[in-house]
Amino acid sequence: MAKARTRKPKRPSRFTAKTADKHDLYQRSVQDVDTEVGFIDQVFRSIRKRAPVSLCEDFCGTALLCGAWVKKNKNRTAIGIDIDPKVLAWGVEHNLSPIDEPGSRVTLHQRDVRKPLPGKVDVLGAFNFSYWIFKTRDELRRYFERCRKGLNKDGLFFLDAYGGWEAHEPMFERRAIAGGFTYIWDQDKVDPITNHILNHIHFEFKDGTKLDKAFTYDWRFWSLAELRELLLEAGFKDVRVYWDTSDDEDHEHYVPRARAENQPGWLAYLVAS
Ligand SMILES: C[S@@+](CC[C@H](N)C(=O)[O-])C[C@H]1O[C@@H](n2cnc3c(N)ncnc32)[C@H](O)[C@@H]1O
Repeated sequence: MAKARTRKPKRPSRFTAKTADKHDLYQRSVQDVDTEVGFIDQVFRSIRKRAPVSLCEDFCGTALLCGAWVKKNKNRTAIGIDIDPKVLAWGVEHNLSPIDEPGSRVTLHQRDVRKPLPGKVDVLGAFNFSYWIFKTRDELRRYFERCRKGLNKDGLFFLDAYGGWEAHEPMFERRAIAGGFTYIWDQDKVDPITNHILNHIHFEFKDGTKLDKAFTYDWRFWSLAELRELLLEAGFKDVRVYWDTSDDEDHEHYVPRARAENQPGWLAYLVAS
């Protein structure tokens, strides 16, 4: 989704479909883990009046967030969970091994997020809407129950969501990424009866080559109201929505809000305790 904050190019226009690595392109296009870690830290401290130590990232993919988490403080540990052994191996090679000692405080588990967590944590995160793979209320409630059981007593569950009226229209959102390639978010299908949606990420390069459907997401669209209800039904006591109040497109500023004005497209975080 449009969650990109781009990095400065190291070498311009070195990307081409022949040599590009889709995980590298993904990280450059949609992840800003330092900002995300800062947000988690700030929210946890403001609600719990202590520093969070352990984090588990469900659907961790390349474990970029886990790496950023442990780098911030020498006491921190992280668990990453993903079903795909290849993406985990990529993460070890490119994100964890290169950071040396902090990387050894990250444990990756190749498993389905529906299985119980391997240990209790302060912070559990499910980002970039990955939990939208659950397409029924029962499936999603069961997943949320499993998340609640994996938290320490004062632990917090962080997840994100997107919406706004543009979220329901077929469209291509193109964004130039530093380094010389274009990220394309493709909202391919929305079924208004089931709320099932099909999205893709494509990449285009300056030499005219393309990586079509580098990633495909077969999801159900969930509204914030449904998510709050299901989190409460799953046993969470409090669910806060953090809404982006920044007027600056390049900088986000999330604050807790009980109500909001709809916008063409928005991203929000939910924090459940
Ligand atoms: C969109 S990526 C998320 C990457 C990263 N966490 C982020 O925030 O951008 C979704 C990941 O979820 C993983 N995944 C899909 N279904 C899963 C399941 N049932 N259990 C664990 N991981 C799953 C995929 O292998 C993929 O790496």
